[in-house]
Amino acid sequence: MDPEAGRPPEPLTDADHRYLARAVELGRRGWGRVHPNPMVGCVLVRDGQVVGEGWHREWGGPHAEVNALAAAGPDGARGATAYVSLEPCRHEGKTPPCTRALEAAGVRRVVYGARDPGRHSGGGGEELARAGIQVVGPVFSEAQALRENPGFFHRSPARPWICLKLALSLDGAIAAARGERTAVTGPEVQVEVHRLRAGMDAVMVGARTARVDDPLLTVRLGPVAPRVPPVRMVVDGRGTLPPDSRLLDPEEGPVHLLTTAAAPPGQVAALEARGARVTVVPGREGRVAPGPALHVLRASGIRTLLCEGGGRLAAALLEADLVDRLHLAVAPRFFGEGGVPAFPRGRGLPLFQALPAPPGSRAREGWAFVEAPRLLGSDVWMTLERIRGRREEEQDPPE
Ligand SMILES: NC(=O)c1ccc[n+]([C@@H]2O[C@H](COP(=O)([O-])OP(=O)(O)OC[C@H]3O[C@@H](n4cnc5c(N)ncnc54)[C@H](OP(=O)(O)O)[C@@H]3O)[C@@H](O)[C@H]2O)c1
Repeated sequence: MDPEAGRPPEPLTDADHRYLARAVELGRRGWGRVHPNPMVGCVLVRDGQVVGEGWHREWGGPHAEVNALAAAGPDGARGATAYVSLEPCRHEGKTPPCTRALEAAGVRRVVYGARDPGRHSGGGGEELARAGIQVVGPVFSEAQALRENPGFFHRSPARPWICLKLALSLDGAIAAARGERTAVTGPEVQVEVHRLRAGMDAVMVGARTARVDDPLLTVRLGPVAPRVPPVRMVVDGRGTLPPDSRLLDPEEGPVHLLTTAAAPPGQVAALEARGARVTVVPGREGRVAPGPALHVLRASGIRTLLCEGGGRLAAALLEADLVDRLHLAVAPRFFGEGGVPAFPRGRGLPLFQALPAPPGSRAREGWAFVEAPRLLGSDVWMTLERIRGRREEEQDPPE
């Protein structure tokens, strides 16, 4: 938008895009510390020089713009362009409005990434324009905005935004043998998984993984100590979690079990006596029905969920088309005949066959790489997202 009505906004330069990308990068430093608020970064540039950088560091703390203005010092931002990954807020919340701070600092131009959909916080762009500041934004599509801040932009009341992580061998196995805990990938992947956990509302595994691996599902490694540790969950339709499981260690807080009416009441009572929070959800023959169960979780306030397997639970989520992001960590090893295939009897595979959408491809439906695969130690880490329907920017041009 432009304050001088009728004049088209100036196109963004390469430098504009670079500074906005830098703002996004800075914002990511808030992972695990600011949610459910969005991660936001800000870069102030004057005469081609960065004069201040900031990001939203802590939930309830100063916003990215205010931190960047403080870094620029008094009068440091006069005449500058502010690159902000999210539209500056215009409401008096836990902190004063950023629009007012930018205006008072004499910022000349604001380029922002995502539109703020908040009823009270949104609309900052228009407010800045009314104050005579040149405003360019939103630069990001809705899909981009969601990718950067799923906990903030995923607004569906039906279910949380779901991320699935699986570690695989080159021959597609998730464990070396049935009933055996296997470290498929190396320590670098483990650190990345703990970093991921830190920014999620919940972390979930299937009952067999809970029985075989006896995991803790806490954040113990990596660079981020979460402000709010994720809720640890097990999809345990028959209530089979052994009472001596590490998940039930009272030191780690309650574990949340999703079970069905098939769970024997005595077993449920025993688990509750060990501190577990048990929720009975719809299901058949001990199988939790994923859609209704996820609806229950969303209603309980869980916005983002990381599923860490195993294969049966992963297949159930993929088949119901409930996964939004997929992290695959592929190890350079073979497990051969005895290996546990990622998906039993080819389940989940139809979606995987749709996977090879190369980076940057115009995939309209299926899975697309959203970042280049990278090496973590000797393992390859891949990030894909589910593309549902056609993206806005891919619509055919009018005839
Ligand atoms: N490489 C990796 O990334 C990774 C990650 C996690 C686990 N693992 C390995 O994977 C193996 C376990 O995986 P898995 O596929 O056998 O089991 P799983 O997916 O961990 O758990 C499946 C179990 O969850 C319960 N369940 C309830 N409702 C369900 C539903 N709608 N869909 C699916 N499951 C439901 C059932 O428990 P009941 O059996 O009680 O009926 C089912 O057998 C272990 O060897 C573990 O080490 C590997």
